[in-house]
Amino acid sequence: MATVRSVNELVKQGFEGIEKEIMECTDCKLHETVTNKVISKGSRSPKVVFVGEAPGKNEDETGIPFCGRAGKNLDVMVAYMGLSENDYAVINTIKCRPPNNRSPLKNEINACKPFLQAQIELLAPKVIILLGNTAEKAFCDAEKLEWGVPRIVDGKSTLLKIYHPAALIYQRSRIEEQNALIDSNRHLWE
Ligand code: URA
Repeated sequence: MATVRSVNELVKQGFEGIEKEIMECTDCKLHETVTNKVISKGSRSPKVVFVGEAPGKNEDETGIPFCGRAGKNLDVMVAYMGLSENDYAVINTIKCRPPNNRSPLKNEINACKPFLQAQIELLAPKVIILLGNTAEKAFCDAEKLEWGVPRIVDGKSTLLKIYHPAALIYQRSRIEEQNALIDSNRHLWE
């Protein structure tokens, strides 16, 4: 039986409390097969938060988000955006690696959502960059986002969906498209 989690209660516990809750979470079956849960990296008062999909093999082994090949592409993107280390944080939609890197299921996304929402609330970024469609699923129930078209939510943060760094591996034309999406949104974080 899944725990009913209150985002407010999680937020009250702060970053360490959320981390502990994630570590102890057994709300979906993914906890049974992970080596490490993967929680976050980067600044605790960022301008920008990047939200990925789910940990992959390297992340599961190390507990660090985006530490493999997709992470290298993310680093290149961050540099292109002109962000420095204190400007951004990186989290994932779900914190446990799905077997064989399959896409997260709806019930897995829903089980992890209170953690994601609490992380976002504590990090309080100006801009939430959704890396692909899985991250979007956790933020937009009804009206989907268009690639590179920002949307202000709750009068606070702006949501922006761009391509997942894994979709840019060896894809020159995609990288150019991505850079154009970034260029047209620089005012959001600069
Ligand atoms: N892909 C993701 O979405 N997240 C990671 O942490 C690594 C690869």
